Amino acid sequence: MKMAKPLSGKENFPVFDKYKDLVYLDNSATQQKPKRVIDSVVKYYSEQNANPLRGLYDLCIKSTDAYENARKTVKDFINADSTKEIIFTRNATESLNLVAFSWGQANIRQGDEILISISEHHSNLLPWQIIAKQKGAVLRFLECDKSGKYTAESLEKALTPKTKLLTIAQISNVFGRLNPIKEFADIAHKNGTLIVCDAAQSAAHIPIDVKDLGVDFLAFSGHKMLAPMGIGVVFAKQAILEKMPPFLSGGEMIEYVTREDATYAELPHRFEAGTVNAGGAVGLAAAIDYIKEIGFETIQKRENELTEIALNEMNKTPHVKIIGANDASNHHGILTFTIDGVHPHDIAAIFDADNIAIRAGHHCAQPLHQYLDVQSTARMSLAFYNDEQDITRFIQTLRSIRRRMGYDN
Ligand code: ALA
Repeated sequence: MKMAKPLSGKENFPVFDKYKDLVYLDNSATQQKPKRVIDSVVKYYSEQNANPLRGLYDLCIKSTDAYENARKTVKDFINADSTKEIIFTRNATESLNLVAFSWGQANIRQGDEILISISEHHSNLLPWQIIAKQKGAVLRFLECDKSGKYTAESLEKALTPKTKLLTIAQISNVFGRLNPIKEFADIAHKNGTLIVCDAAQSAAHIPIDVKDLGVDFLAFSGHKMLAPMGIGVVFAKQAILEKMPPFLSGGEMIEYVTREDATYAELPHRFEAGTVNAGGAVGLAAAIDYIKEIGFETIQKRENELTEIALNEMNKTPHVKIIGANDASNHHGILTFTIDGVHPHDIAAIFDADNIAIRAGHHCAQPLHQYLDVQSTARMSLAFYNDEQDITRFIQTLRSIRRRMGYDN
């Protein structure tokens, strides 16, 4: 009998059929797309496409159903209470901007404090910088140790009666370390502080349960978890969302409009102005089904095994320095590093010459690089579809770099 091939293998991803020699280790930037996800988008546009929520004809009902079913899939995926708590956006960046420019505009006042982890991606920093400037609020930073660890003690010290909001990623895109979001949500709430969680780097790698975490807001992107680009999600507790003013305005987010005024649609549509990305939402739902079918246990085991092999070999390689913790379980497939005497852009260019895709630069986390006193870094990031051969090729190139740059060792 012919055995079915596991979903986790590269043969399910058309990009690896086209580029047979490619070692793709830039999964934190975006993941590759399985055929099943690509097919789901093609099916939507071939069989279900109309402008959702706007028409009473059959095809429009099909498109609305496809879009709203995708919302239900997302709700179940993160264990939200209601589909009213799931807002589709373009990506995690837009999700975080929605929280800042809707909730933040309405609730942050002069003298309030916004507490941000020092390792945040710029998308979870800049919206708060803008709100703080507009409102005369103060940005304060929660600092970690060199391994990327944040502690409850440092959070308790940093919170003041003025702290309105704590915002922190579940997994940093530089350290790869899992932050104690549940514990931090408890501490924040005892202080009367709301908590935003940026799950852009975690949603593809670990199960997320917003009720268990206790977060008030959570944001993620589809494209970092097998889904198409241009679809993202923001979760917010219904009681909070009900009181938030619209972020973007225009079509389909209204109930009734006069010359001078408008009343707004019910949740979640109040926050989804204009024609939505229904094909993207369908692709995201297919990606979630795909991840569920493989299972987070398998995904985590695989990514951790590969991270461990890579980390061990990197630790044995002279001149290579790892950013963050020294054990694989604190990296979630993200290994950021430097090589003495070699600029990270040269590192990435040499990897590219060997057909290996990694990222180099500041990874949209410049304050963290300033804090760690490094200009820039190189980063390899894994997904479950990577294999041992990818790691072997990565290490071979890594070990050749200083020599190729003209050093003796
Ligand atoms: N946020 C993405 C990364 O870390 C783009 O690469």
